[in-house]
Amino acid sequence: MKIGIIGAGNIGGNLTRRLTALGHEVSVANSRGPETLTALAEETGATPVTASEAARDARIVVVTVPLKAVPDLPSGLLDGAADGVAVIDTGNYYPQQRDGRIAAIEDGLTESRWTEQQIGHPVIKAFNGTYAQDILDRGRPQGSPGRQALPVAGDDAAAKQAVRDLIDELGFDTVDTGGLDESWRQQPGTPVYGNQGDADAIVKALAEASPERTAEWRA
Ligand SMILES: NC(=O)c1ccc[n+]([C@@H]2O[C@H](COP(=O)([O-])OP(=O)(O)OC[C@H]3O[C@@H](n4cnc5c(N)ncnc54)[C@H](OP(=O)(O)O)[C@@H]3O)[C@@H](O)[C@H]2O)c1
Repeated sequence: MKIGIIGAGNIGGNLTRRLTALGHEVSVANSRGPETLTALAEETGATPVTASEAARDARIVVVTVPLKAVPDLPSGLLDGAADGVAVIDTGNYYPQQRDGRIAAIEDGLTESRWTEQQIGHPVIKAFNGTYAQDILDRGRPQGSPGRQALPVAGDDAAAKQAVRDLIDELGFDTVDTGGLDESWRQQPGTPVYGNQGDADAIVKALAEASPERTAEWRA
């Protein structure tokens, strides 16, 4: 499958490694330009591209840049993507360490709803609470006892299913968090964030989440 990855850092780099190893055709972009991605391309066989080119013909696009960089992404980011493209948002709001104050999120908008408004395309929230190293190390075959599960939120049922199928291929179970309005259940500071448990543990952690943003996660 053609997959575009925008952001080639901890998460984007490791998704590029695993998805190419599974035989997917991956295009990967960063902010500095394709010529700076030669090492990752040689290691994985992925095609380095500009952010504007990453979505071309892709059935899945991953947006995995720091939240504060989302407004800098080129307009028309999803132009040329395959019909029904599923866009994964891995982002987290780190107001104190990295992103500064984003008023709409402080006022209660979910982080992924803010991102989808910025890029002008619906998103599926996934991988945001997953350690980048786990993408490389913790994938297991379907049915393995204790197989790690990832929460996935989003409004488009077909896109969400495509993302869940891809995560299964990567070696993880998934749990449906609900629509994007429920995606606060998997934001930073919730019981599921960084949780490496199996599906039962993730269902429990999602149910225990509180919608209140704690001081640590406010600007
Ligand atoms: N690290 C984790 O374990 C982890 C886990 C779950 C979720 N997340 C979340 O996932 C997102 C990415 O995290 P990360 O740790 O992978 O970040 P990272 O290592 O800092 O990498 C960020 C990547 O985004 C690229 N980028 C920045 N601005 C861009 C732009 N305008 N256009 C295109 N590419 C741009 C950077 O390119 P340049 O290097 O060229 O600037 C870099 O390749 C964040 O929201 C983070 O909170 C991270």
